[in-house]
Amino acid sequence: MTDQILKRWDAYFGPQQPEIIIRSPGRVNIIGEHTDYNQGWVLPGAINQSLYILISKSSHPTHHWIAHDLNEEVKTAGNSSLPDWAKYIDGAIAFYKPDIGPLHILISGDLPIGAGISSSSALVCGMLVALQEMTASSDSKVDLARLGSRIEREVIGVQGGIMDQYAIMMSRPGHLMLLDCRSKEFQYIKVELKGYQWMLINTKVKHNLIESDYNQRATECSEAVEIIRSKFPKTESLRDVTLNILNEVDLSETLLQRSRFVIEENDRVLRMVEALQKHDVLDAGRLLSASHEGLKTLYEVSCPELDHLVDFANHYKDVLGARMMGGGFGGCVICLIKEEAVVNFKNSCIESYTDRFGFSPEFILFELGAGAERICKA
Ligand code: GLA
Repeated sequence: MTDQILKRWDAYFGPQQPEIIIRSPGRVNIIGEHTDYNQGWVLPGAINQSLYILISKSSHPTHHWIAHDLNEEVKTAGNSSLPDWAKYIDGAIAFYKPDIGPLHILISGDLPIGAGISSSSALVCGMLVALQEMTASSDSKVDLARLGSRIEREVIGVQGGIMDQYAIMMSRPGHLMLLDCRSKEFQYIKVELKGYQWMLINTKVKHNLIESDYNQRATECSEAVEIIRSKFPKTESLRDVTLNILNEVDLSETLLQRSRFVIEENDRVLRMVEALQKHDVLDAGRLLSASHEGLKTLYEVSCPELDHLVDFANHYKDVLGARMMGGGFGGCVICLIKEEAVVNFKNSCIESYTDRFGFSPEFILFELGAGAERICKA
């Protein structure tokens, strides 16, 4: 991958190699959806599919940034008409090192874009690691992850949590990260599935209300907390709420459903860790499917394409469980499947999905990989 991307660099910027090359991975989340901004638990990991960021200071008077896989380029930073990918780069520079001067940047890789596996966080986080390396500053990966999350909230306006940035910055190969989004403490959970594997199925749709609906969910959770706090003053977030407490407060049906989902999902994260540590794949599968049911009916962030894939997977004998992954309204389903069944499953799934929606889904097999890192100095 690196050789191929270095050739692209050469074609755009000439034979002098980039000063820094960063590999910044996508992230999956096994379970714990919409819990991060509720100070709950999540269980993400980085995947081997990654963005590569090649970067050098430029002697020209202006920036020159290239998103090779999108076939787009930008030469003027700091204006509001930048394409989204350039806004992330611009935001990282503005928050971390605004006086760094003109940069040559090439972004390329094998990470699917817009598939709900956090290509945007991979870009912001990768840029921050690149800038830190260029300036030899002493910020830790945790500092950079927090800054990355702030940049996404302030530059793009999505009220996201910290899951994506923590996983992208600090994951370890072969491990998931059990992250407590309240204390920000995390531990690595080794995963051995013995004959089974995770697989992503990309719906290839992204319904356009994703940002406003996502923010609305975050607002609904804060509203529920406000109301619960008036009776239970120690409540800081839905993390402090139990199902018994929910029975004692007067919430609207919608706020009740949102809160119930978050409470149950937090519990599922801890049960998933136990299941994985005991190699109990059947229980792991059941937890995935229960999570989807909650995301669909209580939290209402699914869509027909995701539901179709989850239904299909759940009726397939060698799939142990499946659920939508990430913010929702499109993106990927994650499922736990018997290794030897993958090829047949793909064929039947393509047929069923294409019959209903007129186009084929995409399958992404992945391994749990390392977080963002510098891969060589030319
Ligand atoms: C998006 C956000 C994350 C998290 C998930 C839902 O990926 O970026 O912070 O809230 O949605 O779990």
